[in-house]
Amino acid sequence: MARKLNFNQDELVKLSSNESPLGLSSKVADVIVKHLKELHIYPEVCSPDLREAISKYVGYPVNNIVIGNGGDGVLDTIVRLFIDKGDQTIIPTPTFSFYELITRISNGVPKFLSRDKDFTVPVDRLIDSVSDRTKIIFLCTPNNPSGNIMSEEEVRMVVESVNCIVVCDEAYVEFTDSSVSPLVKKYDNLIVTRTFSKAFGLAGLRIGYAIIPDWIFGEYMKVNQPFGVNQMGVIAGIAALKDEEYLNQTVILAREGRVFLMSNISFKVFPSQANFVLVDVSPLKSKEVVSGLLEDGIIVRDCSSFRGAGDSLIRITVGTPEQNKKVVCALNRINKKNQR
Ligand SMILES: Cc1ncc(COP(=O)(O)O)c(C=O)c1O
Repeated sequence: MARKLNFNQDELVKLSSNESPLGLSSKVADVIVKHLKELHIYPEVCSPDLREAISKYVGYPVNNIVIGNGGDGVLDTIVRLFIDKGDQTIIPTPTFSFYELITRISNGVPKFLSRDKDFTVPVDRLIDSVSDRTKIIFLCTPNNPSGNIMSEEEVRMVVESVNCIVVCDEAYVEFTDSSVSPLVKKYDNLIVTRTFSKAFGLAGLRIGYAIIPDWIFGEYMKVNQPFGVNQMGVIAGIAALKDEEYLNQTVILAREGRVFLMSNISFKVFPSQANFVLVDVSPLKSKEVVSGLLEDGIIVRDCSSFRGAGDSLIRITVGTPEQNKKVVCALNRINKKNQR
């Protein structure tokens, strides 16, 4: 992208993939360097040490934790486990596009349910849309790209009313005060998936995990790759869980930054519980605004590629205070120019 736009890489402001603006934690970097010479050795099968560390972090026994190559890898394994040809998944849109992709790859049929205007999931309509062929419902909370959460009560209603698996994707959970993970011990059809890519700043290492009910563990292991997380990921994941200072800083930066973006962007900004905000740039089109920002070296996400998102939404990752100021100035300039 830098080459294409004629910018030096360090001049670009990349606010398109919800990564941590703090860069890699220096404590994690030190641990990675220390273990570099061990890379000719396979990781331990199913990474018990990393699962042990996650188990402490989430407060579940180690046999309720499974891991994979990013949250994507875990979601993919879950779908391969539960979806046979013709089985259906329900996906409240707009949301993370990967749920649709993995359903189709497993020869399943994604059924889409439009969220309400403020992006809340219409729980009654969702429950009514479940059929005998429904095997998985995907709930993303906080939702990508809208940033809103589902309450524990809403998730409980869904989980209690259906026989299929409910996957709650909590990729952005660290940025909110709300998690439905305590419900996994109460319901045997709820799975919570998470990632190290966002608040822990390890997107490049591809580490994800899920908190699953007891009975799913054995089933998951039958289809799981034995070396699903690479050795650097294992080492870095354990170190990242110990680095509370980095985690707190990332979370504070996101919480303060999203308030700044919300109060200063002159377009409509939706309230967010994540490390990004969704902006409605109408009457402009998302495509033209994204191109306009690119001219200033700022990369944000055009949400027209999200099913059901229309053509006027952009998603901006909360960056450093300087990056946030830069994107606000550029966006407001585009808005002002349009009003002239
Ligand atoms: C909602 C959601 N779930 C899962 C993921 C996958 O994260 P990763 O595969 O990097 O762990 C993402 C990444 O953007 C996401 O937004």
